[in-house]
Amino acid sequence: MTDQRIGVEEIRARKGGVPLVCLTAYTTPTARLLDPHCDLLLVGDSMAMVLYGLETTRGVTLDTMVAHGQAVMRGSRRACVIVDMPFGTYEESPDQGVESARRIVDESGCQGVKLEGGVDLAETVAAIVAAGIPVFGHIGLLPQKVERRGGFRIQGKDDEGARSVLADAEAIAAAGVFAMVVEGTVEPVAREVTERVAVPTVGIGASPACDGQILVTDDMLGLFNDFTPKFVKRYAELGEATTEAVRAYAEDVRARRFPTDEHVYHIDGGTRS
Ligand code: KIV
Repeated sequence: MTDQRIGVEEIRARKGGVPLVCLTAYTTPTARLLDPHCDLLLVGDSMAMVLYGLETTRGVTLDTMVAHGQAVMRGSRRACVIVDMPFGTYEESPDQGVESARRIVDESGCQGVKLEGGVDLAETVAAIVAAGIPVFGHIGLLPQKVERRGGFRIQGKDDEGARSVLADAEAIAAAGVFAMVVEGTVEPVAREVTERVAVPTVGIGASPACDGQILVTDDMLGLFNDFTPKFVKRYAELGEATTEAVRAYAEDVRARRFPTDEHVYHIDGGTRS
């Protein structure tokens, strides 16, 4: 395993090859744990819901994304790190997109940015790419736009929906994305997108045929005890493990079983041990 960071060109070259392993990371300690195993770490705006307890992904600012991007860069040395462009920082005009993207890469040191959108955002994608900033696309179910599209609905179910997802994929591929997330899309459409575009597709609730997969790390670690969407596979039950550990700690403190002699400092001949 090399210490050299994976660049976006290496990600692009993985089209049709060994599937890309991608996960979200928001903090330094998590990035340290994920980095040796992942090709790409996404500092996703899902942090609005996962870390900050907000109802949608819309509540995070550029400053917040930059701060978490810096944290993930500090905790990683191998994976390609991509930071999400938060809602309201790129939709107005290509110039606004370039300015926000430049702030994110300059201030966090990450390899590129991700933004949600297809045909409607292709001009902005092209402008950011022309400014020398790599763009990870995101099509299908777009969490930043769920209110406009009627909630967290699976995309591409009818002919019109399928045509729209395919048109979005082709538009951002032509605009120069190095790869694209395909989220919450019926399997045959995600498969067709993967066949049609020359850049890797990274699926989440999409298709095993995609060129890679991404999940929200907290979901696959089972850190939530409530709802688990169909597309998530839980690889651990850290929510239950945390509850059990905290319950044991609380019992020990109340019963004066913690701390014990081994956890306190003694004065031995003037030195503390
Ligand atoms: O914000 C995020 O975590 C994402 C992934 C779910 C793809 O966009």
